[in-house]
Amino acid sequence: MGEPVRRTLGEVPLLVVRVDDATVRVLGDRCSHFSGPLSDGEVADGCVECPWHGSVFRLSDGLNVRGPATAPQPSFETRTRPGGTLEVRLPNAG
Ligand code: FES
Repeated sequence: MGEPVRRTLGEVPLLVVRVDDATVRVLGDRCSHFSGPLSDGEVADGCVECPWHGSVFRLSDGLNVRGPATAPQPSFETRTRPGGTLEVRLPNAG
C-alpha cells in the first residue's frame, strides 16, 4: 500500500492512497471529527488513522471504524484513464 497523499478536486481536499496497480482509494481529507488532515495520518490494514485524535476510517468506503469520530468520511469512486489520469466522483453523482 502506498503512502497517503493530499490532492484537491476544485476546492475539496482529498486523501489519495494507492492500494495496488489497479486500485486507488480516495476519501475526503478533512476528518469528520475536527477536520484533521487524514493525508498526514498512518495507513495500515486498509484504514487510515487521523493524526489529531486517532479516529480510524476504512479506505474502501470511509466507514468510521474507531472514534472519536462518529461519522464516516466521504468516499469517492475512482477510475484511471489511459495515460494515467485519475478521475474521481462521489458515488451516485451522476
Ligand atoms: S480531527 Fe480526526 S480524530 Fe479528531
